[in-house]
Amino acid sequence: MNWSPFDPEVMTDPAKGHQYLLDECPVHHCDKFEPPFYTLSRYADVEYALRDIETFSSHFGQGPRFTEPAGMLCDPPQHTQYRKLIQPAFTPKAVAALRPLVVPLANRLIDDILAGEPEFDLHDDLAFPLPVIIIAGMLGVPSEDLEDFKRWSDMQVALMGSENPLQYVDEQTRFQTYMHTHMMRRRSQIESGAEVPEDLLTLVVGAKTDAGEYIPDGDALSMLNQLLVGGNETTTSLITNMIWRLLEVPSRWQEILDDESLIGAAVEESLRFDPPVLGLYRNATRDVDLHGEVIQKGSKVYINYAAANRDPRIFEKPDEFNLHRETKRHMAFGLGVHFCIGAPTARLEAEVALSLLRRRAPNLRLLGEGERIGPFFLWGRRKLPVTWG
Ligand code: HEM
Repeated sequence: MNWSPFDPEVMTDPAKGHQYLLDECPVHHCDKFEPPFYTLSRYADVEYALRDIETFSSHFGQGPRFTEPAGMLCDPPQHTQYRKLIQPAFTPKAVAALRPLVVPLANRLIDDILAGEPEFDLHDDLAFPLPVIIIAGMLGVPSEDLEDFKRWSDMQVALMGSENPLQYVDEQTRFQTYMHTHMMRRRSQIESGAEVPEDLLTLVVGAKTDAGEYIPDGDALSMLNQLLVGGNETTTSLITNMIWRLLEVPSRWQEILDDESLIGAAVEESLRFDPPVLGLYRNATRDVDLHGEVIQKGSKVYINYAAANRDPRIFEKPDEFNLHRETKRHMAFGLGVHFCIGAPTARLEAEVALSLLRRRAPNLRLLGEGERIGPFFLWGRRKLPVTWG
């Protein structure tokens, strides 16, 4: 089988080809992209690659192209220092403090949905605004700039997966100018001794190195950028994917209506079955001999979380969406030093969205499959037509 993540069939259903990759081609070489890359799919190999960061480095970025190391897109020790900077915004206490913001926001969005026509788009009216408003608040971005913010987030993702980054130069410049202005404004407030919010922006732009210097602007910008993208599109996809699968089989939705305690399981099974990030890249620092193939030193390696999540060596009947699964060790948030720092935030938003829809729109029904989002390594719906009537 000639598998490629860009194949139209695989784009429509990324699970197509998992069995081939897992059984017959655990080290795949793809030459349909520049640079060509290898793909690792088995759970054990994905785990090995994510843990052995000396062999599988993040130094030249998480995307398919080689990029300059910056912010947290690199290896320790720089990665450790920068991750520590933003950690206070992601402690269990900080995430718990978000709940009183997430619940009323989700309720307000659902109020608007129920006040309108029964047919609505779950992406546009709930799954998109909820995470973007939350992450914008965490980054101290004014709400009137939300539309720009969303456009820039989409652009960052498209840029990451593109063979031709030059086409995004103008938009990228506008984004960087905006973020730079935003950073400088906050820094001058900090310097003047004004009271500033204890948000992610303050953590990143107010931080100083051991030498008493602010961290370089390029690193600060990279971190804010990663937080913007990380906190936005992925959580939107988690919400759309989860609701899509629950409504696809009416008995599944009925199970959720009958038993509220299944909400957490629905979020985890959605993350396993339809991970919003299908895979990300590492960079091989030496030749690696695996399953009889040699991954060449200096190559890009695609770490296929989605295939690992369907590995029958770990998950019984992996292609079944099952709300009663015992094993929860999915790879949707990665593993090891780069494990998603925003995982508890994403889980909170998805659980709140499902729990409120269950209570306030129990007759929710699917009106179609909607449309897939663009980039090949991400998986979510940018349209999901539903009705509450
Ligand atoms: C369902 C939603 C989400 C998914 C599927 C997801 C997925 C991931 C994955 C797979 C990684 C690992 C990257 C790697 O190994 O190179 C990661 C890292 C990261 N995520 Fe998330 N993420 C989600 C939500 C969030 C949220 C809500 C935030 C922030 C508010 C966030 C911020 C980050 C950051 C900053 C990193 C980099 C961590 C590091 O390198 O140490 N993510 N995410």
